[in-house]
Amino acid sequence: MKFLITAGPTREPIDPVRYISNRSSGKMGYALAQAALEADHEVVLISGPVHLDPPDGAKLVSVSTSGEMFEAVHQHISNCDVLVMAAAVADYQPAMVSKEKIKKADGNLNLELIPTRDILASVVNDDRRFLVVGFAAETENTDANALKKLHQKNCDLIVANDARDAMESDENEVTILFRNGEKKKISRGPKEIIARELTEIFENVCEKGLTKKIT
Ligand code: CTP
Repeated sequence: MKFLITAGPTREPIDPVRYISNRSSGKMGYALAQAALEADHEVVLISGPVHLDPPDGAKLVSVSTSGEMFEAVHQHISNCDVLVMAAAVADYQPAMVSKEKIKKADGNLNLELIPTRDILASVVNDDRRFLVVGFAAETENTDANALKKLHQKNCDLIVANDARDAMESDENEVTILFRNGEKKKISRGPKEIIARELTEIFENVCEKGLTKKIT
């Protein structure tokens, strides 16, 4: 099958030397790319800026901003069988990007932020022909918040994790929530192991025909 996987953070520039970003390391997305390749799938990996070597055999598309990630996902979505949105996409970007470095001045500096486009919500419609896997990075009410995202973003399944725990770490602990209300927990372990288990789950869901592609 063809996997399209996003990973890592995005950077939203403020001026030529500053940006807004988050602590995502990209490790979960890269581990998923590796696991999918090991299971003989094709992988396009759309990655924000990270300090990781891409797995051998993945087609790497490097991006920086959420806007670039949006374009890259839309460019590669056709023919994909499984979309995994593991990236920690910025929700806001500066309203204006200063051409020159913003100089320090007396008093406070107010930065106006405007929403970025939601990539996941933009690619998912009822006629889609691929499995859609979202990720939910939460710090409280993890399952309830993830369930809301599963439905709001019209995903087939969503992988919920605690952002404080998961970001930058080599380990993770996740709960997978399915549209039929089913729930599956993968207990704490290296991201490589979690990624293998997740890949098997994605394969099983595809095989069972729960995607719009097969029904
Ligand atoms: N996502 C996306 N585009 C965005 C923001 C998020 O595609 N602009 C995707 C992420 O890749 C992830 C899912 O949406 O698969 C949920 O992301 P998350 O950061 O957990 O939630 P948000 O939708 O950003 O909501 P909040 O920050 O309020 O939790």
